[in-house]
Amino acid sequence: MKAVHLPLAALLTLNLTLAHAQEPHAQPHAPVADNRAVLALTAAERALLLEEMHLFLDGVQKITGALGRQDMPAVADAARGLGQKAAHGVPAALRAKLPQEFRQLGFSVHSDFDQMALDADNLQDVSVSLNQLSTTLQKCAACHATYQIQAPLHSLGR
Ligand code: HEC
Repeated sequence: MKAVHLPLAALLTLNLTLAHAQEPHAQPHAPVADNRAVLALTAAERALLLEEMHLFLDGVQKITGALGRQDMPAVADAARGLGQKAAHGVPAALRAKLPQEFRQLGFSVHSDFDQMALDADNLQDVSVSLNQLSTTLQKCAACHATYQIQAPLHSLGR
């Protein structure tokens, strides 16, 4: 039997092309301008902000896992970990560079998680917590749709 050896990249491309062909609503991928407002940060500031983002995502994963198990004390713990007390590590210099709307949105997300923790403890109602999480995730999405970070490339990783 004659095997056809295609390079991996070609196979991947083929796969993607097929996946596209089967997707009825697929739009051609034209390059889209990134019109989001720019936060001009140093590499270290960018790293710090992204670290906070990773904590958010980890915490949201913990919350959804705990909700799935209906483990409300674990929901409260994970939510509290993302509350106001998590926001105190932001240095003044970075804080000063962040637009007011950005800080307000960040503040409101942290206080949402504090409220979620309180209600998870007191009400112990999975759908209340899920609705709160959904509302908060809209704020994550709103901020991501509005802002991007730009840090000097040459200093990345230092
Ligand atoms: C006040 C604004 C703001 C809020 C609120 C916010 N983020 Fe972000 N997040 C950002 C910015 C700015 C970036 C960098 C985006 C870019 O430069 O493209 C980012 C990036 C991220 C990233 C990518 C990290 C990486 O390594 O590139 C993740 C994941 C993330 N956010 C998760 C979340 C989650 C989950 C929430 C809500 C619980 C959230 N964020 C809320 C501003 C925000």
